[in-house]
Amino acid sequence: MATAVRNSTLAFHAGHLRTNPRAGSALERVRNRTANIAILGLGHVGLPTALNFCEMGWQVLGADSSPEILEILRRGDVPFYERGLQELLTKHLGLKFHVVDDLGAAIRQATVLFICVGTPQRENGEANLSQVESVARSIASNLNDYKLVVGKSTVPAITAQWVRRTIQRYSHAHDNGAIEFVEPEFDVASSPEFLREGAALHDLLHPDRIVCGIESDVARDILQEIYKTTNAPILVTETSTAELIKHAANSFLSMKISFINMVADLCEAVGADVDKVADGIGMDPRIGPGFLKAGIGFGGYCFPKDLRAFIHLAEDYGLEFPLLREVININELRAESFLKKVRRALWVVQGKTIGVLGLAFKPGTDDTRESPSMRIVHALLEQGAILQLHDPKAIPNLRTNFPEREHEFVYCDDPYQAARRAHALLLLTDWPEYKSLDLDRIRNFMEVPVVVDGRNIFEPTSMENAGFEYYSIGR
Ligand code: UDX
Repeated sequence: MATAVRNSTLAFHAGHLRTNPRAGSALERVRNRTANIAILGLGHVGLPTALNFCEMGWQVLGADSSPEILEILRRGDVPFYERGLQELLTKHLGLKFHVVDDLGAAIRQATVLFICVGTPQRENGEANLSQVESVARSIASNLNDYKLVVGKSTVPAITAQWVRRTIQRYSHAHDNGAIEFVEPEFDVASSPEFLREGAALHDLLHPDRIVCGIESDVARDILQEIYKTTNAPILVTETSTAELIKHAANSFLSMKISFINMVADLCEAVGADVDKVADGIGMDPRIGPGFLKAGIGFGGYCFPKDLRAFIHLAEDYGLEFPLLREVININELRAESFLKKVRRALWVVQGKTIGVLGLAFKPGTDDTRESPSMRIVHALLEQGAILQLHDPKAIPNLRTNFPEREHEFVYCDDPYQAARRAHALLLLTDWPEYKSLDLDRIRNFMEVPVVVDGRNIFEPTSMENAGFEYYSIGR
């Protein structure tokens, strides 16, 4: 059962709530803001979440298993690019935000623990929950007082139940030989995070909704207190429903993208315009305009991994989900169909100089994980192209991740350098700065003015009027 409410009138009517009588003083500490929050895992979700809680006035302890990340943070630097994050770290480090080496210490000193560790995928697609388990075991051995343990990482349904069981199991193991067994004082909850990379702080400040999967009144009251300054509807459910909401949301959004990408291919075949089709269907409030931008496919750390994990979860319960398999298949074919377009434009790729604008999986981030741009870049390199690469943020990441390519990739400081003597210019990430390029300058730099736009950044007629041979997606 789920209840959507404004936070001031939060109500919950589940049938079997567990209440921990010793949790009252924890709730009091949260109410009078003397409780600490611990963020366990300081990646793309954990670090923005931590600093956002600092902005809300909380004292936050941040822990991570990577000594490198802790070292970078302690120096006052952020380990990845995210707009506004550096400024918040500088503002709060050592005052409200404390980087803690010892995970156990962070757990002992905090009342509310947010699990934000990675849930990477295994080869078979299922979510690898070993980091979640490891944190749960650390919590078990550091239960010095009541704790509310909140899962924020994207996890398959029933993970919170396993976190509960793990904490119980390992804290029991700890109690061996105790004369009187004391039930460990904690609750588990699930409050999945919906933030987007590149817009993380905005999304934390202005969430569409907050999902609170809970099992006790105290957990609900604590989360309500923590989120009370956020003017967003709160959906209260049990933990498994909360976990499922996150997987279902990501899968649905990826489905919209694969759908519009197939429509784009059809538009190309019949001479229609996919952007207009997207506008036309998006005006229907039952469909909505978001996530209908055709292109070279979705990437990043979340969609591909979460889709596979969701399919795997369904199969674990004996349910096939071919719809979502097809979402993945369509997405995986996007890079190949873009490469075909490039080959059609250039005829022979080998030996040609190609400028590439955009390497991150989307604008606003330096993240190239599962980036469709990178798939295209590697394939072109294999086909013998000479690549001049530009991205406003991602190049340092490429240098670190592909040291073996250092002599093959030509890294460019600006987009015009990438266009110099190029036989084609590819637009692969829709960074806003690419929209305002000086097109005359670009054309004059190029050997042949061919542009293949994988994100429909430009209008076909204005590109043709500007003297380009222009190819885009679904138009
Ligand atoms: C996503 C979800 O949006 C977020 O709610 C969740 O918490 C994490 O996963 P993120 O991976 O940061 O966020 O990126 P998002 O903005 O959703 O874009 C994902 C991919 O889809 C990108 O590669 C983007 O270019 C692509 N995309 C997005 C499209 O191709 N077309 C669209 O219309 C929208």
